[in-house]
Amino acid sequence: MSYQNIIAEARGAVGWIQLNRPEALNALSNALVSEVGQAIEQFQADDNIGAMVITGNAKAFAAGADIKDMEGQEFIDLFLADFPYNRRDGWDSLNTARKPIIAAVAGFALGGGCEMAMACDFILAADTAKFGQPEINIGTMPGAGGTQRLTKAIGKAKAMEMCLTGRMMDAEEAERAGLVSRIIPADQLEEEALKVAGKIAKLSRPTVYMIKEAVNVAFETSLQEGLRFERRAFASTFATADQKEGMKAFVEKRKPEFKNR
Ligand code: CAA
Repeated sequence: MSYQNIIAEARGAVGWIQLNRPEALNALSNALVSEVGQAIEQFQADDNIGAMVITGNAKAFAAGADIKDMEGQEFIDLFLADFPYNRRDGWDSLNTARKPIIAAVAGFALGGGCEMAMACDFILAADTAKFGQPEINIGTMPGAGGTQRLTKAIGKAKAMEMCLTGRMMDAEEAERAGLVSRIIPADQLEEEALKVAGKIAKLSRPTVYMIKEAVNVAFETSLQEGLRFERRAFASTFATADQKEGMKAFVEKRKPEFKNR
């Protein structure tokens, strides 16, 4: 499939999605978000792909929703369209993909860009990454999950300060606060993201899906319910051929060959 606002390609077993509007710091126009969704659906449907990466360029992952697109909009337009979820094809695909999606962030991840990174399963940050919800500076507020996911990720005090003041967080603070899983030197980000996604892609796909689901349940339910869900999912891995192979390979001191069954 050919895209105008992103580059999407299979790199081995990894679905690589690069936001590609460098002239606008990858601002999330409707067209771009739509294309991200189409690429996610394409990779989700492709049996050869086991994980995905969304990335930007050295200067920006994405500097937010496209302010030039939004400038002339009225309440009624956004409300009736359910903006930014009028790009259901994009945000919904990101929120519901079963294959893990890693955000590889260098430079600015602001507003909707920070929200898109947080909607991924985890964030690998270049040492140049800067995260923020600066919507307050332009008289609006986060609209694609910023007040919710940031608060769950880093707690009320920091999330409240960031959303109320628009202050940016550098990579070190983001790692300390638990927003990102790791910091990587900027010139190694692409290689490391491919390596991590490639590792996940080689593991048992049904088990990968179960783990992703189980971790996400922690955000939606009580501890007791979550623990029960986890035990049921754990037991169900024993219905897979991959669990048999994984444990047998361990006992036989060899590498497992997972069949995704
Ligand atoms: N929308 C549209 N265009 C944007 C943009 C955005 N969010 N962010 C940057 N651009 C454009 C600039 O207008 C500029 O284009 P021109 O050359 O045509 O003027 C180009 O990208 C380069 O940007 P700057 O010249 O501003 O670059 P800089 O290095 O001086 O500053 C920056 C970088 C601090 C990130 C600055 O661009 C900035 O503050 N951007 C806006 C960040 C923002 O407010 N994001 C939140 C958007 S609202 C939102 O996201 C709502 C939501 O939750 C759904």
